[in-house]
Amino acid sequence: MCGIVGYVGKEKAAPILLDGLARLEYRGYDSAGVCVADGSELRVCKAKGRLQNLCGLCSDGETLPGKLGIGHTRWATHGEPNDINSHPHLSQNGKIALVHNGIIENYAELKAYLMKKGIHFVSDTDSEVVVQLLEYYYKRFDGDLMRAVYRVLATIEGAYALGIICADRPDEMIAARKDAPLLLGYGDGCSFIASDATAIIKYTREVSYMEDGEVAVLTADSIRVFDAHHEPIEKEHHTIDWEISAAEKGGYAHFMMKEIMEEPEAIRRTISPHVRDGKIFFEGLCLTQEMLREMSRLYIVACGSSYHVGMVCKYTFEKMLRIPVEVQLASEFRYCRPIVDDKTLVIIISQSGETLDTMAALREAKSLGARILSVVNVVGSSIARESDDVLYTWAGPEIAVATTKAYATQLILMDMIGLYFADLLQAIPKEAYSALVEELQTIPDKLERILDQKETIQYHASKYFNHSSVFFIGRNLDYALGLEGSLKLKEISYIHSESYASGELKHGTISLVEEGTLVLALSLYSPLLEKAVSNIVEVRSRGANVLALTTERDRKEISKNADGLIVVPDTMEMFLPSLGVLPLQLFAYYVALERGCDIDKPRNLAKSVTVE
Ligand code: M6R
Repeated sequence: MCGIVGYVGKEKAAPILLDGLARLEYRGYDSAGVCVADGSELRVCKAKGRLQNLCGLCSDGETLPGKLGIGHTRWATHGEPNDINSHPHLSQNGKIALVHNGIIENYAELKAYLMKKGIHFVSDTDSEVVVQLLEYYYKRFDGDLMRAVYRVLATIEGAYALGIICADRPDEMIAARKDAPLLLGYGDGCSFIASDATAIIKYTREVSYMEDGEVAVLTADSIRVFDAHHEPIEKEHHTIDWEISAAEKGGYAHFMMKEIMEEPEAIRRTISPHVRDGKIFFEGLCLTQEMLREMSRLYIVACGSSYHVGMVCKYTFEKMLRIPVEVQLASEFRYCRPIVDDKTLVIIISQSGETLDTMAALREAKSLGARILSVVNVVGSSIARESDDVLYTWAGPEIAVATTKAYATQLILMDMIGLYFADLLQAIPKEAYSALVEELQTIPDKLERILDQKETIQYHASKYFNHSSVFFIGRNLDYALGLEGSLKLKEISYIHSESYASGELKHGTISLVEEGTLVLALSLYSPLLEKAVSNIVEVRSRGANVLALTTERDRKEISKNADGLIVVPDTMEMFLPSLGVLPLQLFAYYVALERGCDIDKPRNLAKSVTVE
């Protein structure tokens, strides 16, 4: 969603801000803008649409002087995407400029209050209220900007990451956060703010993560941070440990393809720190065997693809652990009076670690007494920091909006968590456990074998890309996998697609199947092979074209009935979705490519969803 970058230093700010915004494009946006301090004047430039419109307006920053500035990519919530609603917003007298991520919930009442005081608003945004309120208090407090900032923070309700500059202080930038990510970057003779590290890693790897309630004052040579009571605090410094190349395309046409190709390596990186002598270890985990034994219920809570990982794990965990596993959409969790207490373990899954609904669910579960274990990709993210335990997926930065390698690493890490629990609870025989751990380590090589046949998948995509509606069908693990295959296809190719448990077809859905309907029949789960075959026969006899996904072991049986076939290597049941998802991601990619879609930045979508 919205992205923030801010710079104060000895170089010209505008080109650095535009470069940062370009690196934040992946988050999803519909307009962009920058504001620089040119002596004691603030100069704003903003434009609807792609960043190149903004770059064109200011000749790539050349026409904007000044060594202090803030930039923003906006994903519209309040007010349509247009030039005026874009950030940065200026206060009425043009002296204060602000960028904001998040939502100000009480903006309507504050706006009414300020309008009564004669303040004129130019945009439809909730964010403008903050900058107008700032000017109001700045004047009332005789130019004491920090006092005005604290007063504003005490008045506004909602979520925010803020970057503020003031014409009267052309060497200083102010940042504040509550429930929206913001980090501080320590450069050589310069300082930064950013909504994520991608924006500034070209300039510095040394960062601090702001916490809720904190306010920072940045100059070229210093960053001072204060708590909610304006008391100075020392921040821990972290070093970003990935290379800038990880956030670049590296010769691929799209980030999505690059990230798909990285899956085997990302999975190796996720597995290897935790496997030793045929066993899985999670050192540093506070969750003990005793705590686990006392757990009566397990929840998995997440959104989107991360939720689909949970759907797969419901099958694998329940079968192996024999404890009830409830998988909940984070956006529903806090509104459904979940049955959670101190005997509940809640596993939160999130790539970004910043998804607002997931964060809210975490807090709800915590307040009800649950223990929280999170599976997160972004180190130091809010979800990681607020959990009792966190395990990281080492996928590296994921830039394409459609998740691929993050889903793959989440799934494998969840498998490992399941196996670790099974071992602690002695839920499965030792030999079965050892065989599973052994097989786990073969998954990256098997994925490489699937990548070797990507031309076959491209061929199928070129055959079927013109369909306007696609159904994914399967049972058990195949059903859970179909949910992700279907989401991948619809989000990047804009083809309407649904995923059904095959057994449900006869209860209504089959009425939609007609001559030429494309059905992706997932039949990896061997115990239900016969049923899969009979469902394929059913839809084919009604005219469907069936593209089937199966294993080496079942290819003969399935090929007799399908129009097209994608085959993955054999593996143990638990790991079938880890192999099966790769061809589905490739299929979605190639279909979107054929249709000329904007694969990395699909319309209306954002990489990390930081609003409700
Ligand atoms: O960062 P998170 O894992 O919390 O994000 C959850 C969803 O927004 C995300 O998985 C989304 O569904 C993906 N874009 C799907 O490709």
